[in-house]
Amino acid sequence: MSLPKLFTPLTLRSVTLPNRVVLSPLCMYQAKDGLANAFHFSHLTAFARGRVGLVFTEATAVEPEGRISHGCCGIWNDSQVEAYQPIAKAIEELGAVPAIQIAHAGRKASARTPWQGSAALDATDAAAGSPPWRTVGPFGEAVNASWPTPQAMTESDITAMVAKFAAAAHRSAKAGFKVLEIHGAHGYLIHSFLSPLSNKRNDGYGGDRAGRMRFGLEVAEAVRAAWPKELPLFMRISAIDGPAGGWSLDDSVVFARELKSRGVDVVDCSAGGIAGPPSFRASDTGQPFKDRGDRAPGFQVPYADRIRREAGIATMAVGVIVSGPQAEAILEEGKADLIAIGRELMYDPYWPLRAAESMGVDPDCKMWPNSYGWAIARRASIKAAW
Ligand SMILES: Cc1cc2nc3c(=O)[nH]c(=O)nc-3n(C[C@H](O)[C@H](O)[C@H](O)COP(=O)(O)O)c2cc1C
Repeated sequence: MSLPKLFTPLTLRSVTLPNRVVLSPLCMYQAKDGLANAFHFSHLTAFARGRVGLVFTEATAVEPEGRISHGCCGIWNDSQVEAYQPIAKAIEELGAVPAIQIAHAGRKASARTPWQGSAALDATDAAAGSPPWRTVGPFGEAVNASWPTPQAMTESDITAMVAKFAAAAHRSAKAGFKVLEIHGAHGYLIHSFLSPLSNKRNDGYGGDRAGRMRFGLEVAEAVRAAWPKELPLFMRISAIDGPAGGWSLDDSVVFARELKSRGVDVVDCSAGGIAGPPSFRASDTGQPFKDRGDRAPGFQVPYADRIRREAGIATMAVGVIVSGPQAEAILEEGKADLIAIGRELMYDPYWPLRAAESMGVDPDCKMWPNSYGWAIARRASIKAAW
């Protein structure tokens, strides 16, 4: 039996990923002063041990005000580099490739954690020791009525922000990461410049599509220049906004072509988030989901597929990809090059090994770390008697 594509390597620049399974970036809200700690170490290394090929950190802020919450990781100083170093090293020693997502939350920064409701921080939080901070965006308009108005960035603010992304890329290389992703999705700063729903500027960073793409493309260029040229660069985008008049899949194809010409290697195709929490949409009909159940398995795969075909760039598919055969079909049909998984991996960090088992490709548990594999194989042989 030939090995499913899901378990075959992929080489990007000088980096060979051992397989196509990727831990999607997942905010944990467990950092203090932006520093990764024991929680992040145990969290991220578990996926490397479980045979995920590419392990992404959570969205890691390029400046303190770019964090979503007080608990988000950052990479704006050297202590944060030192905190990430042992994590990147351990991921690599376990056979996976360590990757970082760098981000700025823009007008969606200064928020509570999801288990506190994800609302904007206010005086109650300040009294409890977690004060809100002034957010920034392309335009002085809030996400919605329950969010504070961001400060519209001036051209010199934009130039400074591009430099912060580049500095974060430089530090990420020092931390030992081998893949870097720029977060350009989910309504955060870069996405808020792209979308006509949030970018109502009338200078060179707004207006038509070219103007709205300018900040994101300048970030891509500056990061590419700061990030070692032998290492791959990804960009996550919201391939569609959802609401009428928003960023469309046609826009994403154009943006992906521009990213490719600036040395971006992979476009990670997510969706939604411009008008609040990342409320994904099922299609570009603009119809919001009635409930979470509407997010059918693989609902964002068509975006990765079209961008891959029409922009001629490698893509990563993400969003309710739950089984090995489902992931394999996406790769086999040429709809994406990599499969990012979030919640199913949180639920089971050994998802790749279980997928291999369910696809009949690892009958002797050879994919498991040796220390586990021999014992898990024995467990399988006695299972019949249970
Ligand atoms: C707890 C949690 C935290 C997340 N944090 C991030 C993040 O830091 N950056 C990002 O781009 N997406 C983030 N996402 C979105 C995921 O990366 C992923 O795109 C989404 O969960 C859909 O994939 P899934 O259906 O496999 O979970 C987060 C999702 C969850 C559930």
